[in-house]
Amino acid sequence: MARKTSKTPSRSANALWGGRFSGGMAAIMEQINASIDFDRRLYAEDIQGSIAHAEMLAAQNIISQTDAKAIVKGLHRVKSEIEAGKFSFSRALEDIHMNVESRLSEIIGRPAGRLHTARSRNDQIALDFRLWVRRAIDEADAALGDLQAALISQAEVHADTIMPGFTHLQSAQPTTFGHHMMAYVEMIGRDRGRFRDARARLNECPLGAAALAGTSFPIDRHRTAKSLGFDRPTANSLDSVAARDFTIEFLAACSISAMHLSRLAEEIVIWCSAQFRFVKLSDAFTTGSSIMPQKRNPDAAELVRAKAGRIIGALNALLIVMKGLPLTYGKDMQEDKEPTFDAADAFALAVAATAGMVRDMKPNAEVLRAAAAQGYATATDLADWCVRTIGIPFREAHHVAGRAVRLAEQKGVDLGALTLKDFQSIDKRITHDVFKVLTVERSVASRTSYGGTAPANVRRQARAARKAWL
Ligand code: ARG
Repeated sequence: MARKTSKTPSRSANALWGGRFSGGMAAIMEQINASIDFDRRLYAEDIQGSIAHAEMLAAQNIISQTDAKAIVKGLHRVKSEIEAGKFSFSRALEDIHMNVESRLSEIIGRPAGRLHTARSRNDQIALDFRLWVRRAIDEADAALGDLQAALISQAEVHADTIMPGFTHLQSAQPTTFGHHMMAYVEMIGRDRGRFRDARARLNECPLGAAALAGTSFPIDRHRTAKSLGFDRPTANSLDSVAARDFTIEFLAACSISAMHLSRLAEEIVIWCSAQFRFVKLSDAFTTGSSIMPQKRNPDAAELVRAKAGRIIGALNALLIVMKGLPLTYGKDMQEDKEPTFDAADAFALAVAATAGMVRDMKPNAEVLRAAAAQGYATATDLADWCVRTIGIPFREAHHVAGRAVRLAEQKGVDLGALTLKDFQSIDKRITHDVFKVLTVERSVASRTSYGGTAPANVRRQARAARKAWL
């Protein structure tokens, strides 16, 4: 059985389309044409699809029960050979379909030749790849759920941990670490929704479209669709073999989610810097420098940030491959696998590393609180107080608060360190009561509007998210 991966051109006509060909393939032709080096990853899906197909053929009396049994048994054996590392993949046999079928015929002989009745490699690859992407979607969804669990746990522990909220990366208003974590729980929730939407649209079975036009054999496409866990068979045979939007949609979902991960990763990079010191990552998620002993580099976060690039690249690659392709199948479409596999791997790694970092990171509460108090972060609270207490319109109150900030700036102090005299020099109506709203704790606790940063809100949100997602 030991076939070597062939690096030399096959000298004879190909055994699988034998009839019409007399000469062999040029070496370079074999190299550009063969997909076995990467589509071997589809072996389990290919065999699963073939088993469903063979069983259907027998149930429809298109092949005999005896042949179907031999085929199914043989396919199981091929699978265990592959899983045991005993299978030699051959480039001359081009792809996973022909590698499996050829080995099957070595094992069971002539009945193997009946497996490809009412089928083509075009619907076969469309099926295999859908099955693979469907599983990748389920894995992405589960991994993102794990990341949400890590974020929610941090949110629960740090619902009261005050930190600066930024716009333009400038101090804006105080918020909490928990609220910040919950922001990502929302993003990841939408990402999971996108994966689930993609799955629902993907979940139609293309098997039975055959080469492109369907088949004259009395096949039962509903049966194969059902046995492979699809909701229904695809409705149009041309579309069945020509469509690749299912993996494009998967890559789009990966890209959007990777973009979200890259934002969190970038925040972690900033937060870990000596200038910020907002959080600490343990040795588990940092590296040292070979020359600068003081360094703790957040490499995992940097790599998550970068993975977004290659994942978005994969989406672009496939969109460009598919654009302008005439119906139906074109060999161009073989180029769909490597970007998909690469992006799926990169995404899985990025999600796992992010979950690990989120679990690992320890926010530095004192530094965060001090930073939250800097930059006149309670200026909005001052303006709101003026609206509420002295009844001036917000636009005027904004002006009053602005003047207070200028005064504090001149004196080199925080808003809370201005005296009542200082405030009254801006507006006589301001009373001592104003100092209550100038602390970051008060600011945060007061933001009880739906979705706001108040700790009680964050706890409620975390509880709801646990119910919805975990
Ligand atoms: N390796 C091919 C692919 O990935 C499988 C389908 C080939 N079909 C064909 N008619 N050559 O697209």
